[in-house]
Amino acid sequence: MELRIKRAPRIDMEIAVPGDKSISHRAVIIAALSNGVCTLGGFLASEDCMRTVNAMRALGVKIEQPAPDKLIVHGKRRVLTPPKKEINCGNSGTTMRLLAGLLSGQTFESRLVGDAGLSRRPMDRVIAPLRQMGANILAEGPEQTPPIRIRGGSLRGIHYRLPIASAQVKGSLLLAGLFAKGKTTVEQRSITRNHTELMLNYFLVRTAKDGDDNISVFGDQVPESRDFSIPGDISSAAFWLVAAAAQPRGHLLVRDIGLNDTRTALLGVLLRMGAQVREAVEDVDQLEPRGVVEVTGVALKGTVIQGKEVPQLIDELPILAVAGALANGTTIIRHAQELRVKESDRIAAIAHNLRSMGTQVTEMKDGLEIHGPAALHGTRVASFGDHRIAMAFAIAGLFADGETIVQDADCIRESYPGFETVLEEFTNSKRMQISTPVIGSLTPAPVEEA
Ligand code: S3P
Repeated sequence: MELRIKRAPRIDMEIAVPGDKSISHRAVIIAALSNGVCTLGGFLASEDCMRTVNAMRALGVKIEQPAPDKLIVHGKRRVLTPPKKEINCGNSGTTMRLLAGLLSGQTFESRLVGDAGLSRRPMDRVIAPLRQMGANILAEGPEQTPPIRIRGGSLRGIHYRLPIASAQVKGSLLLAGLFAKGKTTVEQRSITRNHTELMLNYFLVRTAKDGDDNISVFGDQVPESRDFSIPGDISSAAFWLVAAAAQPRGHLLVRDIGLNDTRTALLGVLLRMGAQVREAVEDVDQLEPRGVVEVTGVALKGTVIQGKEVPQLIDELPILAVAGALANGTTIIRHAQELRVKESDRIAAIAHNLRSMGTQVTEMKDGLEIHGPAALHGTRVASFGDHRIAMAFAIAGLFADGETIVQDADCIRESYPGFETVLEEFTNSKRMQISTPVIGSLTPAPVEEA
């Protein structure tokens, strides 16, 4: 599939976005381990999340899907059955890393495979600590890359200090910890998304938290079955929020979106770049805060994104780089070397596409220096097989002269089925009446220390 984009007329929209990807993966896995039937609403029926659903089915869990965004998960009280064949994680790094932890706690043998893209991504980050816990786990690929072969069981709790800020690794170890003897503690030096620990808590699993740094789970617990409703994904909304923020007097309201503060750093950056941003948390009953966000656009100014802010907006960096190209002055993104091992080498992909649209960019080992404001011109851009690159450059196309063509855009289905429909609304800009007043103001996030 190719996306063809033209410049957007004035943006004045109210939208909702599909369910949160990170939360969807975790909800399915933890519900599957629970002691009863759980109904999950707002589930993201994207390719990545369906990989997790099918993996849990392959492990003997009955999961019904009466509507795309509704799952009925029949919890197996932690008793999974050996898969008949290898489990295919497709392009989903979250599926593979979370399952590596879960399967390390099972006594049977399993093998996790991925597509060509996932087969290039590093797995040593989960393999090393899972081995320390006692799992028999190895990567078959040349550089600790997939496939992964696992024979688990008899795990012991460890204290593990994350060498890289990764919520996938934290989640993997906490899931393994559920099957380990004693207490498993993950120490993080930077805050990363906390959906695994919140979901465990929601399912009444005992965890402990010592400051922001140490998160522990106690082994041998069965999650209590409960229903859960997944909020909209702020990382999907990010594309539209940036589009509205970068268009002077552009206006966007996003309803029913997840506002977990380990995920909202994007809003602080948009404020720092000069946009008006307001958020209102409407509900925290299910531990994951959810509410509305409203953005009004301005001529943005460049900013610096670095340090501890980076892990909290890691998935938003491609679209923030596009915001940087549209902003006055220089935008610097540093300490983001993790971008090199995402679904593509995102630093190289962003630099390549921004340059081809007419932006002056310097590529650094761990980031980018982007010189705005660029008069973007439409051209053919590559997705590099990476959903967030495809979507970021579709948004760039809304600000470019002429036509922008995003090639190989099918990968968008990994995280955001329906993106094209909203994109069309933006290019036609059907004016939509905003009815919900948004209260609650935010202050701009200061630039993080290096
Ligand atoms: C995710 C964590 C992040 C993020 C990914 C989803 C998760 O990856 O980029 O899209 O659900 O835990 P890392 O853990 O590699 O930072």
